[in-house]
Amino acid sequence: MPDDTIRLSEMQIARFHEEGFLAIDRITTPDDVAALRVSYDRIFAERAGRDEGNQFDLAGTDEEGKEAKLPQILQPAKYAPEMLDSQLYRNASAIGKQLLGDGCTCGFAHAIFKPPHSDVPTPWHQDAAYWPPDKLYASISVWVPLQEATLENGCMHFVPGSHRMDVVAHRSINNDPRVHGLELHPEQMHHVTRAVACPLPPGGATFHGGYMLHYAPGNRSDIPRRALILNLAVPTTTRDQPRSYPWLDEKTTARAKRAQTAAKPAM
Ligand code: NI
Repeated sequence: MPDDTIRLSEMQIARFHEEGFLAIDRITTPDDVAALRVSYDRIFAERAGRDEGNQFDLAGTDEEGKEAKLPQILQPAKYAPEMLDSQLYRNASAIGKQLLGDGCTCGFAHAIFKPPHSDVPTPWHQDAAYWPPDKLYASISVWVPLQEATLENGCMHFVPGSHRMDVVAHRSINNDPRVHGLELHPEQMHHVTRAVACPLPPGGATFHGGYMLHYAPGNRSDIPRRALILNLAVPTTTRDQPRSYPWLDEKTTARAKRAQTAAKPAM
């Protein structure tokens, strides 16, 4: 009987709600991690989803022929459906229900590949800064390294309690709207205090909500840093006071152009 009913303790659940994040040493088995790595490496080698705008450089301008600084694939299970049968997906769903309730489902996932010796960080940001600004989110990102995650290769960092903030000002990385990735606006960097690093063994996990400030340093190690991130959420609600995010309005990414072209019916 597979262990698909992994339980968090009352104390872990309370800590998640109080601090806004949680780290656990094991969300799945070593065999499952090994199988996920095979799928993960295959889709990155194939640059799966490139034409649809689902594979792109998170931290660079993403031109054809230019080496990506921080390759990302959205919805990896679309290109590796076997991932959906993994212990990881089952256990993450079980934990999502414990943290957010029975209506919690996994509708989105992504994979971020940090090449060795790349030293390109995932800058400080709130995930909700990427999402439509007219909604409020109750969500959890489950961040799972498929090898050890260390200070040297880019483990996650969080600011305890920052999940109580609304979305603060962001901008495109290096203030370049051609780059998909976001970073906290320099004027908002004072929010980054008391950051906590979360090194993990392979198949461990961190959990954080959509408003939590987080960051991962670059990869100074000799091997790739593979991270698989599942997003679990309950249905959104609409904001009473509408907002707009200029950092999304100004985006001109090559990825979005590919997605637009792919969505057009062939003439
Ligand atoms: Ni994030």
